[in-house]
Amino acid sequence: MGDLVTEEVLEREALPSDGGDNLLRPQRMADFVGQRKVVDNLSLFIQAAKSRGETMDHVLFSGMPGLGKTTLAHLIADELGVNMHAASGPMLEKPGDLVGILTRLEPGAVLFIDEIHRLPRSAEEFLYSAMEDFYLDVVLEPGIQSRSVRLSLQKFTLVGATTREGLLTAPFRARFGVLERLDPYPECELAEIVLRSAVRLGVGIDEVACNLVAARSRGTPRIANRILRRLRDVAEVKGRGRISVAVAEEGLRMLGIDAYGLTEMDRRILRCIAEHDGAAGLKTVAVAVGEEEDTIEDTYEPHLIRQGLLRKTPRGRVITDRGREAAAA
Ligand SMILES: Nc1ncnc2c1ncn2[C@@H]1O[C@H](COP(=O)(O)OP(=O)(O)OP(=O)(O)O)[C@@H](O)[C@H]1O
Ligand SMILES: [Mg+2]
Repeated sequence: MGDLVTEEVLEREALPSDGGDNLLRPQRMADFVGQRKVVDNLSLFIQAAKSRGETMDHVLFSGMPGLGKTTLAHLIADELGVNMHAASGPMLEKPGDLVGILTRLEPGAVLFIDEIHRLPRSAEEFLYSAMEDFYLDVVLEPGIQSRSVRLSLQKFTLVGATTREGLLTAPFRARFGVLERLDPYPECELAEIVLRSAVRLGVGIDEVACNLVAARSRGTPRIANRILRRLRDVAEVKGRGRISVAVAEEGLRMLGIDAYGLTEMDRRILRCIAEHDGAAGLKTVAVAVGEEEDTIEDTYEPHLIRQGLLRKTPRGRVITDRGREAAAA
């Protein structure tokens, strides 16, 4: 059995060892666990758009990594019965990239732009007319006598996803008719996701083990699924193929995930702050633990803050008493 690497569990991209997230991705809206309000709203808008024979309004999803934004974008396209084209903010560097994509969309298609807060400003402004009135003004010859042509586009639905809604400009946000925020999942819903995933992976799991995984997954389905896959490995080697509580406990220990749901990196972040007299700036923390500032903010801190282990203050990141306990554990 290969080494169990803690940080893998929080990794955003699909891992080679995972065979992607796709096997475990809900295939129908009805299979999507939790986020009731979001799912109900979307289902209603989808139904309304379909019955009027119109394209659906543009949708913006925000929320921490791994809560299901990409999954929901796929489900919207599926339910609308249209194709989905996926792009990601940082990939669309030149406005020309976007022109190519927009002009090739089939009528009613869904254009999914992940990490939409990282779309360059020039591309963003370009999208305004496309989103509002379905046309693009393309400048042919920049300069004093600049010439531009107006390209009309097929109607489409833009679905944007962001882990940082705050970074979107107000005019951009205003162009989305549907704004939905995904929140971390309660443990009971995560337990349901773990159970379903275990069935799909063909591995048995005890109820108590299922709840244990749910409790350690930071409210995040992707993390729950990652942990489950690693536990399946442990079960195959040491547990006669079934994930018992003993297997789950041993696997979590091997992954370095503690009772607070913290990984080694979380503990390093906390220790770093503790060593700086309990308060440190994000930059300092990033350098000390050798991780990017964005990753610390998006991936690690939300859980630390929710658990009351760390606070963001004008003085920087401040560790709480509970945080000191967790760091020492
Ligand atoms: N509500 C859910 N029910 C069941 N499984 C889910 C749910 N939400 C997410 N998942 C699972 O978690 C995985 C991660 O979800 P997804 O890729 O949609 O997250 P994301 O919000 O797009 O994350 P990122 O911000 O990192 O792109 C999916 O492959 C799916 O298996
Ligand atoms: Mg995604």
